[in-house]
Amino acid sequence: MKFSQKAIALGVLSLPRAMAWGSLGHITVAYIASNFVKEDTAAYFQDILKNDTEHYLAGVATWADSIRYTKWGHFSSNFHFIDAKDTPPTYCGVDFERDCKKDGCVVSSIQNYTSQLLDTSLWPSRRNQAAKFVIHFLGDIHQPLHVENVAHGGNGIHVKWNSNEVNLHHVWDTSIPEKMLGPIHRKPYVASIQWAANLTEQIKSGKYESDSKLWTGGLSLDDPITTAMGWANESNALVCTHVFPEGPDTIVGQELAGDYYEKAVPVIELQVAKAGYRLAAWLDLIAEKASGTSQLDDEL
Ligand SMILES: *[C@@H]1O[C@H](CO)[C@@H](O)[C@H](O)[C@H]1NC(C)=O
Ligand SMILES: *[C@@H]1O[C@H](CO)[C@@H](O)[C@H](O)[C@H]1NC(C)=O
Ligand SMILES: *[C@@H]1O[C@H](CO)[C@@H](O)[C@H](O)[C@H]1NC(C)=O
Ligand SMILES: *[C@@H]1O[C@H](CO)[C@@H](O)[C@H](O)[C@H]1NC(C)=O
Repeated sequence: MKFSQKAIALGVLSLPRAMAWGSLGHITVAYIASNFVKEDTAAYFQDILKNDTEHYLAGVATWADSIRYTKWGHFSSNFHFIDAKDTPPTYCGVDFERDCKKDGCVVSSIQNYTSQLLDTSLWPSRRNQAAKFVIHFLGDIHQPLHVENVAHGGNGIHVKWNSNEVNLHHVWDTSIPEKMLGPIHRKPYVASIQWAANLTEQIKSGKYESDSKLWTGGLSLDDPITTAMGWANESNALVCTHVFPEGPDTIVGQELAGDYYEKAVPVIELQVAKAGYRLAAWLDLIAEKASGTSQLDDEL
């Protein structure tokens, strides 16, 4: 890639300790989105994010995780997921009224921060923050274990990964993507750029070419809750088919780096590709609407 030198320099950035969807997943989603957004959208968000490089989205994709456990950022800790009260593998499904906590969930947060981005009367610093949350939460909502209630999204389920004890949430967030891409520990940006390039190709002219045309169906800025619920529902369905195909009890203590991994790979590729493609479409809609709204316009 033409900017691999720069990307290698980025690899030394320290990454947050607790990483939802891992940094690889989030950064890759952001690079895919940068590959698909319209030029005007890129310029619009480069301005809001004050970064005119090709890393303007990727560089902030894990910010929401980095503040989540700080005193200041604690208010946002529940915004990364929705606890769908499913009973895999027999019942999957998400219900906004039932599953979104009173103080917020990933679905309400996508709405909340999307509307802040569209509110051009807000201070630039608020809209900058809102952009960083939207970029992150569109990634999270595509991770099946962020749309799932069993043992706190699998955090309380101990399994094995190459004989080491880990929790199931971590396996989906990080272990599987890292195994897919090989050793990347100090270079998540390099690995993500390459992964994003690959998935971008698959969307444009590869295995996702025809399906991807359906991925942005029904996207509506006027109804972010319904839009995000569609994404959540899709992720949650994977909990029944791929996360707990035999139910949560039978997975405890199992080695997941073999057969389970093989079956998870196509799911993770698809979810990361979808998230990036949808993020691009969502940012296009926001940029288009917000740039047509002046400071005095009060339509929202
Ligand atoms: C843009 O973002 C990248 C990635 O976070 C960072 O390394 C670079 O310094 C930023 N550039 C500017 C002008 O802020
Ligand atoms: C919406 O965003 C603001 C600003 O970050 C936050 O204070 C508030 O709690 C959010 N509201 C909901 C319902 O998530
Ligand atoms: C993308 O990755 C897959 C493996 O996941 C590989 O088979 C394929 O050749 C790669 N495509 C490109 C264009 O790099
Ligand atoms: C949720 O997903 C199921 C299939 O997984 C589908 O039958 C149903 O229509 C979806 N519901 C919504 C609200 O998207």
